[in-house]
Amino acid sequence: MVASISREEAAADVLVLWEEEYPSLRKALNRFSENQGITDWKIRTAIHSLVFETIRRLNTLDWILDNVLSRSKLADLDVFTRNLLRVATYLIYSGKALAALATNESVAIIKRRRSKRLGGFVNAVLRRVQHFKTEELFKLLPEAQHTALKFSSPLWLVEYTERLLGREEAHAFLAAGLENPFVYVRVNTLISSIPDVIDELVGEGFECLPSPEIPEIFRLKKGSRPVTNTPAYRRNAIYLQNLASGIVGRVLSPFPQALIVDLCAAPGSKTSHLAQLMKNRGNIIALDWSIQRLRELNKILTRLGVLNTHIVLADSQKLPFRKKFRSDYVLVDPPCSNTGVIQTRPEVKWSITPETISQMRKIQLALLEQSSKLIASNGQIVYSTCSISLEENEYVIRDFLANHSEFETVSTEPWIGIPAFEGFTNCQRLFPHRNDTEGFFIAKLVRKQTSVGEED
Ligand SMILES: C[S@@+](CC[C@H](N)C(=O)[O-])C[C@H]1O[C@@H](n2cnc3c(N)ncnc32)[C@H](O)[C@@H]1O
Repeated sequence: MVASISREEAAADVLVLWEEEYPSLRKALNRFSENQGITDWKIRTAIHSLVFETIRRLNTLDWILDNVLSRSKLADLDVFTRNLLRVATYLIYSGKALAALATNESVAIIKRRRSKRLGGFVNAVLRRVQHFKTEELFKLLPEAQHTALKFSSPLWLVEYTERLLGREEAHAFLAAGLENPFVYVRVNTLISSIPDVIDELVGEGFECLPSPEIPEIFRLKKGSRPVTNTPAYRRNAIYLQNLASGIVGRVLSPFPQALIVDLCAAPGSKTSHLAQLMKNRGNIIALDWSIQRLRELNKILTRLGVLNTHIVLADSQKLPFRKKFRSDYVLVDPPCSNTGVIQTRPEVKWSITPETISQMRKIQLALLEQSSKLIASNGQIVYSTCSISLEENEYVIRDFLANHSEFETVSTEPWIGIPAFEGFTNCQRLFPHRNDTEGFFIAKLVRKQTSVGEED
């Protein structure tokens, strides 16, 4: 660790930043590392892992702590003490550290950062955590609450996924949400060739598992250091992109001279993938309404050598185009509930609610509606989300088609996932527990072909 700070203390500080300032754990972690001047990847990885593991199990840890706290409530404690208790409880509950060591470390931290008296309190709480019979007490709870604590998931998500997938598969999905995601990289063929990058990474001790349907993306195993610390990453020959996100570009599969409008482009994973599939030819108009996110997109595109993209700051619900403007493809990758990416962003479990899903759905439908005004007569719309809900996926497509009988869905090749639900069998769904990817939904819409003699 940094000279004066332990992994537990650092993790608690990051969690304070998360609670108070940065809804994104990754951003909180980056800010903490910047503030502390941490550049050593081993230290960063150790803090990252403890922070993410703690947040993955947040409701379970809070339940244990609320049970052992006698007079106070966890929510009433000061934010640093609360988060240090969570981190220490995670270490004790998971067996990742010797209980006595985790307790002593936390007591020492609190004595230094707060007071001797609070050190005594933390000591008493963590000793009770050590003797708490978690599994036995779980069994006394009503079944739904037991499942929610066993899989560290909000109750509504347990109920929602059980309705969506059936009980057994829902539990497999929720259990996968407690695991680290697989690491996928996309070779940036604008800068390097696939065989060259594979040789380079194998030389670094990585095992590269190809995905036959998408040759530029492969899964990485082993490796002596994080892939972001390799020369291949530093020279922008690879970009971190999940296989599920990579399918979107391949489903769109533009011809090189195409004109594409990307309605929700930032931070640019899919835009940059499309640019490389077009070999930097054609034109991509990348819209987003967030200036900060467009700055990030600009940096990424520049870094990756993308030259065919025009960045536009705009609200895609009020298109900044002339009436007659038409595009060969429109990509609609709208904001969503992120319920498919709880491995990568476990904090979303604690911020999203069923209301988030209904709010997102309205924006998604409005954006899809806009896309229909832009598309050339033989063009294609690709719609994707990293949500698992029906409301943001199949029901958006259903409602769009109800108002646009001139459109139909067509097959989303290449197939890696499973046919989507509610009869949309040519749309594709991917799930972490089935496909080892993030949870995604992808649909492709085209105008119906009118046969000769049929009216337009
Ligand atoms: C899921 S992210 C897009 C991810 C991106 N396609 C990628 O692959 O990196 C959704 C994006 O939509 C943007 N957004 C949300 N509402 C918008 C609107 N009305 N107009 C334009 N952009 C919007 C957000 O700022 C966010 O960057």
